[in-house]
Amino acid sequence: MKGFLLAAGCLAAMLLTVSCRHARVDPAPQPFPPAPTPDPLIAQGQARFFANKCQECHGPNGEGTDDAPDLTGTRLDGAEIALFLQKPSAHARSVGMPTISADSPDLQPLVAFVLSLKRAGPKP
Ligand code: HEC
Repeated sequence: MKGFLLAAGCLAAMLLTVSCRHARVDPAPQPFPPAPTPDPLIAQGQARFFANKCQECHGPNGEGTDDAPDLTGTRLDGAEIALFLQKPSAHARSVGMPTISADSPDLQPLVAFVLSLKRAGPKP
């Protein structure tokens, strides 16, 4: 058993060395999908998403639940999202989606966050 552990340890060390050497030779790996530039408005929107309990219906990543649609697949553009938040559809209001007024400091961050979900989301 001890011998086996030793052998496994050596193997792991060998693999690590090989992958390290490999990483040095290769050009810097490109992240895929490309890492988005961190946008403070989006980060703020994500915080407001949770503060307004949007995730209770739309899911923590906007993926949708039985109660509300997937926001990553929305067809709305920024202006339309802003309008929807100020005046949710009768259906959304009937289930309890909050209204974000035009002068709310949450409006623009939330729009930016929903748009970021859409960009990251599945393509039609
Ligand atoms: C109580 C549940 C509930 C909560 C909380 C909620 N929503 Fe919704 N939302 C819905 C429902 C249901 C719909 C679908 C309405 C329809 O299709 O008519 C919807 C639709 C939307 C849409 C339109 C999507 C599209 O493609 O048509 C957006 C954008 C949206 N919600 C954003 C938000 C944001 C941002 C919050 C937090 C401020 C939020 N929602 C909170 C239930 C909710």
